[in-house]
Amino acid sequence: MKILFVGDIVGEPGRNTIFHGLYNIKKRENVDFCIANGENSARNGRGMSGVDARDILDAGVDVITMGNHVWSCPEFEEFADRLPVVRPANIGRGRPGRGFLVTGCKGVRIGVANVEGRAFIDLQGDDPFGAVDDVLEGMAAEGAAIRIIDFHGEATSEKKIAAIYADGRATAVIGTHTHVQTADETVLDGGLGFISDAGMTGIARESCIGMNFDGVYKRFALGKVARFEVQKTGTHELCGVVLTVDEATGKTLEIKRIKETVEV
Ligand SMILES: [Fe+2]
Ligand SMILES: [Fe+2]
Repeated sequence: MKILFVGDIVGEPGRNTIFHGLYNIKKRENVDFCIANGENSARNGRGMSGVDARDILDAGVDVITMGNHVWSCPEFEEFADRLPVVRPANIGRGRPGRGFLVTGCKGVRIGVANVEGRAFIDLQGDDPFGAVDDVLEGMAAEGAAIRIIDFHGEATSEKKIAAIYADGRATAVIGTHTHVQTADETVLDGGLGFISDAGMTGIARESCIGMNFDGVYKRFALGKVARFEVQKTGTHELCGVVLTVDEATGKTLEIKRIKETVEV
């Protein structure tokens, strides 16, 4: 089975990128199931509204994962329990939304989970390793042999440790949040597919991880509290990874990076 994981979809350009590009990539790569990170898919790049979620699902994504921007659109709480969306299991205890869900695809049970790291990140949650244990246990209890974790974190080291920690128990640990694709994709000895960061989807080349020059420059160079704005023009790019998974064992056989320009 082939599973495509799409890295952080940023703003309207990100949603346009999957609208125009996802179908062809899925077809070419024989993708059976698609997961995408939607924590920046709102128009302003923070959070995800119901319309954004619908755009992403309509483009061909099966399950959406989130991250530290999960609560930025208040509307998220209204649909978090109804749509196929997961949010970090270890933040916002008691608030709406699920840390993992199990769904079916071609007769196979697939679990998708979201955990947030604690290193250098603005919204810190409970112990991420305990959360990894919890979501793996929960997905196994619901009969999912395939168990994918979106580990949303800033530090490559924390994401790699989480991968080694989960090897033999999870199908893959896919890093998100930095919006920059790393070249360290690998399959660990226990059959866990890993990459430190899947990269972003939207306008990456002309922007600073999806945001335009002004706000980011003012914050770094002048120390001003400035609003970041999504870059609207430039090269639309889709980043992610394709996992080839043995559905009987739940182990990853191969992980391949995707990083390509999409005509919008
Ligand atoms: Fe992000
Ligand atoms: Fe993030």
